[in-house]
Amino acid sequence: MNNIIDLIKTRVSCPKLQAPAPNKLELEEILACAMRAPDHARLKPWRYHVVTGASLDNLGEVFVQTQQENMVSQVKIEKCRNMPKRAPMIIVAVCEPVDNLKVPKVEQLLAVGAGIQNMQIAISSLGYGSIWRTGDMAHHQIVKKHFNISQNGEIVGFLYIGTPDKQPSLSVLNLKEYVKHWD
Ligand SMILES: Cc1cc2nc3c(=O)[nH]c(=O)nc-3n(C[C@H](O)[C@H](O)[C@H](O)COP(=O)(O)O)c2cc1C
Repeated sequence: MNNIIDLIKTRVSCPKLQAPAPNKLELEEILACAMRAPDHARLKPWRYHVVTGASLDNLGEVFVQTQQENMVSQVKIEKCRNMPKRAPMIIVAVCEPVDNLKVPKVEQLLAVGAGIQNMQIAISSLGYGSIWRTGDMAHHQIVKKHFNISQNGEIVGFLYIGTPDKQPSLSVLNLKEYVKHWD
């Protein structure tokens, strides 16, 4: 069809990512794509935190702190510590909802989600891989505090970014199962 459609149709999430991550210029292009997400009333509710290098280790320690009130095994603690090291770069996508009579919080969360998707497509186009993750860490107060997120703010996703070690398989869905035409 065309290159952009082919790229979107063949994009896959990559759970295993290694160095290199996008360089500074590439990262700016990726973030610029996030800024072009559709956004009702142009509220710009998104905030992006780019985590690399020693800050990935720090984030691992923050994840460990979330387990302190639970009686968890050393294995679980090490799992939390190593989570951020599954990629050389993580972009933490945050929604800080703006009070607006016409635009509810759910629409603002969707705008940030659209920003993440724009970034995933840009990342693939540059030959890198990514995966959008959430899980318990996305909702934990300790993690939210680490990124100075307000009480009403949300982590919409941790976008893990790097170079895929292999291309995961692509599942192609049958349109007929999900689409009904009303002619
Ligand atoms: C909001 C959201 C949260 C997600 N959280 C996780 C997660 O925590 N862990 C995970 O392995 N995949 C998670 N996924 C799914 C992956 O990002 C990915 O979409 C899925 O593995 C399917 O792969 P594909 O994108 O190649 O079709 C999440 C997706 C979305 C949209």
